[in-house]
Amino acid sequence: MKNFEHKNDRFTLIAHRGASYDAPENTFEAFDLALSLGFDNFETDVQLTGDGRAVLIHDETLDRTTDASGAVAETTIAKIKSLNAGLWFDGPEDGAGIHGPLAYPEAFVPTLDEFLERYAGKAHVHLELKSTQPALAETAMKSLDQWGWLDQHTGDSVAPGLTISSFHLEQLARSIAVMPNIAHGWLLQKIDKSSLKHALDLGLSGIYPNAGRVTKKQITDANSAGLVVRTWGIANSKGALKRAYESGAVGTTVDWPARAREIIAAL
Ligand code: G3P
Ligand code: CA
Repeated sequence: MKNFEHKNDRFTLIAHRGASYDAPENTFEAFDLALSLGFDNFETDVQLTGDGRAVLIHDETLDRTTDASGAVAETTIAKIKSLNAGLWFDGPEDGAGIHGPLAYPEAFVPTLDEFLERYAGKAHVHLELKSTQPALAETAMKSLDQWGWLDQHTGDSVAPGLTISSFHLEQLARSIAVMPNIAHGWLLQKIDKSSLKHALDLGLSGIYPNAGRVTKKQITDANSAGLVVRTWGIANSKGALKRAYESGAVGTTVDWPARAREIIAAL
């Protein structure tokens, strides 16, 4: 992608599950919309189906974001690929996408392979290993390798690139073991002495606290230890966005990147 004029060099807005305020989360519709709005950093969630295929979906169950119910980890890929992932979503009137009910009637749950093929060369992906499934990291690694995502930028926001994150330290350990050259970051509520030690012991390059709780001191401490800090957990809070921006973090995930860009420009 070309450099976007609006892109703030200091602070990267990462489209969380795509532009997920504006279009159904973790679908091509949400990622395509993010790109069209000028955001080439995507966050997405990966977990395994019952038959071991990596798919992009946030919740443990299908209930909220598809037209079926049940645990993702107990459902086959064939069933998941037959589902609709857009019917639940009403495009908000103040959103940057299509407005109203049934705005995205064709959306489906992407496999990790479909996603990596579609956005190869176009995005920096912040891939969250969502579950604790033991085979998840290695399965993701095979797809990332197959589609050429393991030798690009990492640990920054440059596209094309890849950075891996998780709330689960054991999953990060597995992932670092199979992808030692990729930057990994730990999602947690707040940075303290103990979490810094865990992060350094594990060989992480990033630590990712909740935007609503981050402080300048947490960031200074982490940076002094050589760790990159970006935040998450903005939800619908303009205050949390401002807090993250002013804290010294390098960026944040946000569901509404287009509005966030306007808010930051006005600061
Ligand atoms: O950026 C990380 C963020 O996505 C973590 O929270 O629940 O949205 O996956 P969650
Ligand atoms: Ca996530």
